[in-house]
Amino acid sequence: MVLSDSADVKTFCFQTEQPSWFRYQAGQFITLQVEIEGVTHTRCYTLSSSPSRPVCLTITVKAEPGGKVSNWLHQHLKVGDHVQARGPSGIFSVQHSPAPKYLFLAGGVGITPLMSMTRWLFDQGRHTDVCFVQCARTPSDLLFRSELEAISARVSEFRVALVCERPNPFGAWTGYSGRLNQLMLELIAPDYFEREIFCCGPEPYMKAVRGVLQAAGFDMARYHEESFQVPVHVDAETRQHADEKVDATQTSVLRFAASGREATCSGTQTVLDVAREAGLSIPSACLFGVCGTCKVKKISGEVHMLQNGGITDEDVADGWLLACCSRPLGDVVLDC
Ligand code: FES
Repeated sequence: MVLSDSADVKTFCFQTEQPSWFRYQAGQFITLQVEIEGVTHTRCYTLSSSPSRPVCLTITVKAEPGGKVSNWLHQHLKVGDHVQARGPSGIFSVQHSPAPKYLFLAGGVGITPLMSMTRWLFDQGRHTDVCFVQCARTPSDLLFRSELEAISARVSEFRVALVCERPNPFGAWTGYSGRLNQLMLELIAPDYFEREIFCCGPEPYMKAVRGVLQAAGFDMARYHEESFQVPVHVDAETRQHADEKVDATQTSVLRFAASGREATCSGTQTVLDVAREAGLSIPSACLFGVCGTCKVKKISGEVHMLQNGGITDEDVADGWLLACCSRPLGDVVLDC
């Protein structure tokens, strides 16, 4: 099934060929693999569906100008087509961070994981205290508005606030106007310091939210965000890596045990780059350590990995690494 949510947003519903149930956590993402003009493309999409309705998996996609895969999905994917997907992955989930009260901050189509979590919480019937703030350019760009308002009408602990940058041409708008700021946040959720915050949207939106929260002195350990764009951090936010040891002059040998290939590389090359040069295809999507698609197991050797949350500490302890953001420190053997 393909559903139109707004002028440039569609929801795609997937089922398995043989009837079966999907298992995942609300807010997780999948990595979709599609072939366009003979070239395979991979992209990460957060799920908008809830695991409490397991026969169907949905992604909600905005057609972006120049967005190769999103435009292809909008223009070509139709009922009955087959796609390949990996996952689910990710820890951006209320199931991973349980709390008595939540504040959901959605910017544009970044609403998808928050919608998944809202549907899941609603289906649990627990009446969790949620304040859901959706920010969009215009009222026509608001997504899932009637569903959110229906949940709010039935569950007193679930409140919705809609924020639009500007009204529709020739239309009236009686909700919050402008961009989300500290004053607006305090009006909408005066108790936001007591809430676990989940935020998803374009990087400038999340950067603005981080700025507001940091200026107010919010405990950022209780702030969670999801993004598939290259992270942009202000200087004060940039993580310091005491273990930075990349040596451009160092030469290493990377051996891929399962495929029997090996290659010589410099200290600045990533494992993914070297694998490609050696003719080996390791699946990848984001290329900056956030999605976990390129996870491979190390048999021996050391790497320097600068990841952005795409792998758990347990996986690292078990010898896994992300090929897109790991650089060999000396000779390394991988199980692929
Ligand atoms: S491709 Fe996304 S973490 Fe490597």
